[in-house]
Amino acid sequence: MIARRRVYTSPGEFEHLSACVRRGDAGDPALIAEWEQAFAEYVGVPHAAAVNSGRRGLVLTLSHLGLGTGDELIVPAYTFRELLPPIQALGIRPVPADIDSRSLCSTPEAIEARITPRTKAILALHTFGVPFDVDGILSVGRRHSLPVIEDCAHSLGATVNQRQTGSFGDVAFFSFEAIKPVNTFGGGIVVSRDEELIRAIRRDAVAASFNLELLGSKVRSARLERFLFDRHLAGPLLYILATPALKRLGSWLYHRTQPSVPPKSGYTPLQAEIGLRKLENLDERICERAKTSKMLSSLLHSEINVHDVPEGCRSSQYCFVAELPVPAARIRKRMLLKGVDAGVEEELTDNCAAILGDNDCHTLNSVYPRLISLPLFDGITEKQIHRVADVLNNAL
Ligand SMILES: Cc1ncc(COP(=O)(O)O)c(C=O)c1O
Repeated sequence: MIARRRVYTSPGEFEHLSACVRRGDAGDPALIAEWEQAFAEYVGVPHAAAVNSGRRGLVLTLSHLGLGTGDELIVPAYTFRELLPPIQALGIRPVPADIDSRSLCSTPEAIEARITPRTKAILALHTFGVPFDVDGILSVGRRHSLPVIEDCAHSLGATVNQRQTGSFGDVAFFSFEAIKPVNTFGGGIVVSRDEELIRAIRRDAVAASFNLELLGSKVRSARLERFLFDRHLAGPLLYILATPALKRLGSWLYHRTQPSVPPKSGYTPLQAEIGLRKLENLDERICERAKTSKMLSSLLHSEINVHDVPEGCRSSQYCFVAELPVPAARIRKRMLLKGVDAGVEEELTDNCAAILGDNDCHTLNSVYPRLISLPLFDGITEKQIHRVADVLNNAL
């Protein structure tokens, strides 16, 4: 079975983390400041504050930007649905902006069309690591005096004219969940040029406790996933979960793997240590993945549209997403039968416009059922890439 994802770990990482969790050793607290500084330097912004998750980073950002009850926030129509409840819990109404079918990012035009006198900020996502139209969206923000928050959960290492995503907006947040460009088994960071804002976020993010149990359970899930794929046990399980009758169970299991972190628990120094190590070879890994992506694109049937990287931009190669001419769920089942895993619908990310009951995001509604994510991970072989392309082309 060729997995569509493989959690990247440095040699000995699983064992090291498991041993620290067993001993109750959260690591040397000085590592947090070192990680914040190294991260800010990598992104090219002066200030960074480590937080326990991307979601917590967003909540603290919104609160410190002064958003609250009755305000509206423009959000990507196509994004992670678990962002909606914490936004709504602050009394803010998320208003979805439609996407461009090639980049899958919200467009400046769609964002501008949703602005009302109650709009207080714009949240934009570099979807699957492909940068959004930075100039266009920043100028909408400037025209309407609205801060732009970059959601960089997928895009660490992606650039626009050699400048890192996360350095364009007023503030940006990143996530370090399992398959993110840098994985520290959970956690996040907020970056900005605004020192006061970052100081305030750091103050609120300071740990009352470290949740080593949660960290341990994330490490165990990643090890189990790897075991199931390496022993070829994952295929039958995924095939069963792909049958329409079990779709809800699959969806429930999938979302159970992404629980929100309790607000009072902090990002551990142990995670910072892992992050520091992984940041070192991130560029190298992105270059390798870019070569693999290019090869896979060149092998696909001409009716398959590949997620577009605009001129002058580099993608973080978070995942490989293609748009099929037909609904993807059926094709995925055929691929699973041939031993190739692929993701469809909410396994990529969510149609938040539909979740919010908004009927105006026509581009998203049209492409959503036809999107498929194909295997792309560090260490995938040329032979596996050829197999993925053959299986998909034949399934079509
Ligand atoms: C687009 C997007 N934004 C934000 C997040 C939230 O990150 P976290 O899981 O670290 O809270 C995710 C998580 O997958 C995401 O996909």
